[in-house]
Amino acid sequence: MNLLEFRGVGKSFGGLRASDDISFAVRPNEIVGLIGPNGAGKTTLFAMASGFLRPTDGQIWFDGRRIDGRDTAHICAAGLVRTFQIVKPFGDMTVLENAMIGAFLRHPRRDDAESAAAAVLRRVGLGGREQQIARTLTLSGRKRLEVAKALATGPRLLLLDEVMAGLTTVETGEMVDLVLSLRRDGVAVLVIEHNMKAIMRMSDRIVVVHHGCKIAEGEPNAVANDPQVVAAYLGEAHA
Ligand SMILES: Nc1ncnc2c1ncn2[C@@H]1O[C@H](COP(=O)(O)OP(=O)(O)OP(=O)(O)O)[C@@H](O)[C@H]1O
Ligand SMILES: [Mg+2]
Repeated sequence: MNLLEFRGVGKSFGGLRASDDISFAVRPNEIVGLIGPNGAGKTTLFAMASGFLRPTDGQIWFDGRRIDGRDTAHICAAGLVRTFQIVKPFGDMTVLENAMIGAFLRHPRRDDAESAAAAVLRRVGLGGREQQIARTLTLSGRKRLEVAKALATGPRLLLLDEVMAGLTTVETGEMVDLVLSLRRDGVAVLVIEHNMKAIMRMSDRIVVVHHGCKIAEGEPNAVANDPQVVAAYLGEAHA
């Protein structure tokens, strides 16, 4: 059974077709890469799946239920959560408090939320930074916190939007290891990333979008050698 499924999903912004007839699925425990040039419509797909935008056409299903048009809180409680490409920490709160906001969803008692949040922070490499004010973190720290906030909600599917952008090679490697480790906890991941090395290492499958349309889907090596993908995206990425 599929965990997440886009069925003929379209999104128009006025005359602009940001998504057009997109269909693909993510299965439980799977890591799927979502790639494509700037403006291809990747983030728009995340916004529709997580309840921030309503599709113009088609349907989105999660865990056997239709979720398109439902609100973000409902979708998050169902186990699907996104991160933001432009990170959105609660800047004046501590790192721990930021993660606790997510943790309260499954841990209503404060003590439980605090220990769950602390565990997630250790997991993303922010152990020891619990009391730091979020806005004083480095870019790498803020990216990790963005992942921690999402992970703290206890998702079954995590949508990661360019969480490696701006990280060093070492930091990127650590983030790849973190994503791979989530599978062991039963978390599936749909990940948008421009770093092809990272995408190739993480993904079981890759979906490629271009001008709002899906132009390829398959196992990483096949997709990386697909002439249409090279022409639309990889040629440009490697230039
Ligand atoms: N709220 C909006 N209103 C109008 N146009 C939008 C809106 N959100 C996105 N778009 C447009 O839709 C298209 C797809 O944008 P989207 O952010 O989904 O691309 P992306 O693949 O995530 O790109 P990037 O790699 O640069 O993050 C772009 O042309 C963008 O300008
Ligand atoms: Mg984007």
